[in-house]
Amino acid sequence: MLEEIAATRYVTPLREGGSLPGVMEADDLGTYAVKFRGAGQGRRVLVAEVLCAELARRLGFRTPELKVIDVDPQLGAREPDEEIQDLLKASAGRNLAVDFLPGALGFEPLAWPPDPALASRLLWFDALIHNVDRSWRNPNLLLWHGDVWLIDHGAALWFHHNWRTADPQRGFDSGDHVLAPFATEMAAADAELSELITPDLLDAVTGEVPGEWLEDEPGFADAQAVRRAYAEHLLARAHGPRAWLPEPAAGPPQDRREQKTGSIGTFWKGAR
Ligand SMILES: Nc1ncnc2c1ncn2[C@@H]1O[C@H](COP(=O)(O)OP(=O)(O)OP(=O)(O)O)[C@@H](O)[C@H]1O
Ligand SMILES: [Mg+2]
Repeated sequence: MLEEIAATRYVTPLREGGSLPGVMEADDLGTYAVKFRGAGQGRRVLVAEVLCAELARRLGFRTPELKVIDVDPQLGAREPDEEIQDLLKASAGRNLAVDFLPGALGFEPLAWPPDPALASRLLWFDALIHNVDRSWRNPNLLLWHGDVWLIDHGAALWFHHNWRTADPQRGFDSGDHVLAPFATEMAAADAELSELITPDLLDAVTGEVPGEWLEDEPGFADAQAVRRAYAEHLLARAHGPRAWLPEPAAGPPQDRREQKTGSIGTFWKGAR
C-alpha cells in the first residue's frame, strides 16, 4: 500500500494540466503534484495513475514516488479561483500525491533524441497500458537530472470507464506517440518486458491502489475483484497474441542528426 500523508498547504495550481492538478505541501515536509479525485473522470483516473506508474517503476522506468494524500478543502480557502475551490471541495479525503520534481523540463525529442532501446521499451509499455497520452503535442515525460521521467498515466487503461469494452487484444495506435519514430527495437523490448509481467508482479502493483478507489465498481463484488480484473487483463495482453504490438520504426529520423549536437540549454534559449 502507498504511504499516507496529509496536506498542509495548497501552493499553486499546475494550470498546464487539463485536470487542474495542484502543487501541495504535506506533513512529511514533501512537495507534491496532487491529482484530485474530484476532477473530470474521477477516481478511475487515479487508479490508472497508480497502476501504471507502479508497473512502470517495476519494469525499470523512472517515475516520481506516489503517496496517498489526505486533503482538507479548507486549505484552499484563500485561493480566489472558484473552480479550484469546487475541485478541493469535491476532493475532500484521499487523493494522489506525485513527488514534485523541481526544475524538471518538459521532454522535447529535438533537444534530447532518445536512445532507441528506451524509446522501444516506452512505446511497448504505453501500448500495453493503452496509453493515449504520450503524443508529441503532450508527451507527459519530464527531463530531470539528465534522465527521462514518466508522469500522467490518468488516461491509460481507459477501458475501465466501461469494463464491457475491455479487450486485451485491442490494437494500439502509435501514430502520435512522441517516441515512435525512435522505437527501432520493438522485438527486443517485447522479449525483455513481457517476461517481467508475472502474476506476482501484478498482485504487488494492484495491491498499491487504495481499496476506497475500487469499491462499488459496477459488475464487481468488491475491490479485490477489480484488482484481479486489471491483473488478468494485463497478463492476457502481455502473454497473448501480439496483434497490439506497434511496428518498429524503420530507422532514426534523418533530419535530426544535426540537432543532436545541441544541448537542452541551447534548445530552450532558442525556444524563447
Ligand atoms: N511530479 C511532477 N514534478 C514536476 N512537474 C510536474 C509533476 N507532475 C506534473 N507536473 C507538471 O504539471 C503538468 C500537468 O500535470 P499532469 O500532466 O500530470 O496533469 P494532467 O491534468 O493529467 O494533464 P493533461 O492535460 O496532460 O491531461 C505537467 O505537464 C508538468 O509540467
Ligand atoms: Mg499531462
